[in-house]
Amino acid sequence: MKVVQVEHASGSYPVYVGQGLLGMAGIWERHLGGRVLVVSDETVADHHLGRLDPVLEAHGRHRKLLLPPGEENKTVAQWQRVIDELVQLGAQRDATVIALGGGVIGDLAGFAAASYMRGIQVVQMPTTLLAQVDASVGGKTGVNHADGKNLIGAFHQPAAVVADLDTLTTLGNRDYRAGLAEVVKYGAIRDPHLFAWLEANADALSSRLPDMLAECVYQSVRNKAEVVAADEREAGQRALLNFGHTFGHALETVTGYSQYRHGEAVAIGMVLAARLSELLGMAEAGTTDRLRDLLDRLGLPTRLPDDIRRNELLRRMRLDKKNRADQIRLILLESLGQAVVRSCPADDILEVLKST
Ligand SMILES: NC(=O)c1ccc[n+]([C@@H]2O[C@H](COP(=O)([O-])OP(=O)(O)OC[C@H]3O[C@@H](n4cnc5c(N)ncnc54)[C@H](O)[C@@H]3O)[C@@H](O)[C@H]2O)c1
Repeated sequence: MKVVQVEHASGSYPVYVGQGLLGMAGIWERHLGGRVLVVSDETVADHHLGRLDPVLEAHGRHRKLLLPPGEENKTVAQWQRVIDELVQLGAQRDATVIALGGGVIGDLAGFAAASYMRGIQVVQMPTTLLAQVDASVGGKTGVNHADGKNLIGAFHQPAAVVADLDTLTTLGNRDYRAGLAEVVKYGAIRDPHLFAWLEANADALSSRLPDMLAECVYQSVRNKAEVVAADEREAGQRALLNFGHTFGHALETVTGYSQYRHGEAVAIGMVLAARLSELLGMAEAGTTDRLRDLLDRLGLPTRLPDDIRRNELLRRMRLDKKNRADQIRLILLESLGQAVVRSCPADDILEVLKST
């Protein structure tokens, strides 16, 4: 097992990365207080909830709440169910919420923990690669509104994160690959060694060898922890984590959130952002090709489909509230391993969209 300690304004917490962690009594003894509510989704519960039972029985008073899976359930209505369950449990300020699932469960249960009695502790137990390398670390929690993703939420750092690599064995292939896109992102924006390691091990990563997974999750969490420690509330460098996301988010929106996994849209978005970086003379020729080769080898999409209207994508990107006048703020590359925030002319963005 490896441990990354995440520092933040009011303390710090461990992220445990390894195999066999869900049932490891030592971790539970250290982090479980008061009454316990386990929140999971039905799919994850079928595969992994049973592994918590011995520890929960030994701990005492607890309840389990299983929500329907999927982004469409990251809602105020499901948040209300978590709050109701905490009330039923008689949870006090010392109670613990355990979020066992992907990013949807982590965000939703984390937000319930942030808001119940103005904040009780949450232990994140992420079960998707995306949640292990990204969503479970950093304290962003929330739910969606009909008019916008993550519109309602709070910063609420977990008491601990338990990333059990064994859970990844049951993850569908598309979800697994989508998580890899976020790992590539850390390499591209701030960690050239990680990028080179991914290039050297792309084939082994596809077969989910435990040592490879451990390195992948550990290096990603280490990168995210460094960024969060420097900028917990996204006043500066945390924005770099949005590399590929402005393009990707526009693509997810125009395709109705149904055609692409988040990580797939981000993969295409990163290629577009790299191409724009080259067009503006910020990154050397060949940067985009190298990034696209790696994403291709990891089985991720790298091209915009022909039937997507480029003007519509640009229109969506203009809606971002960080923009000024006819410029759109984006994360661009100076090289693979070095990113910056830049305001870009809409015409240049359209040129890149039309040529990809
Ligand atoms: N808080 C943050 O900083 C942050 C960062 C990135 C993403 N997110 C959020 O994360 C969410 C996406 O997360 P996600 O990709 O994990 O989606 P998800 O939670 O919907 O999980 C994807 C699917 O995989 C299933 N699943 C989960 N673990 C499994 C396992 N071990 N075996 C088999 N199936 C499993 C789930 O039931 C679901 O159907 C989005 O809502 C996004 O906004 C949050």
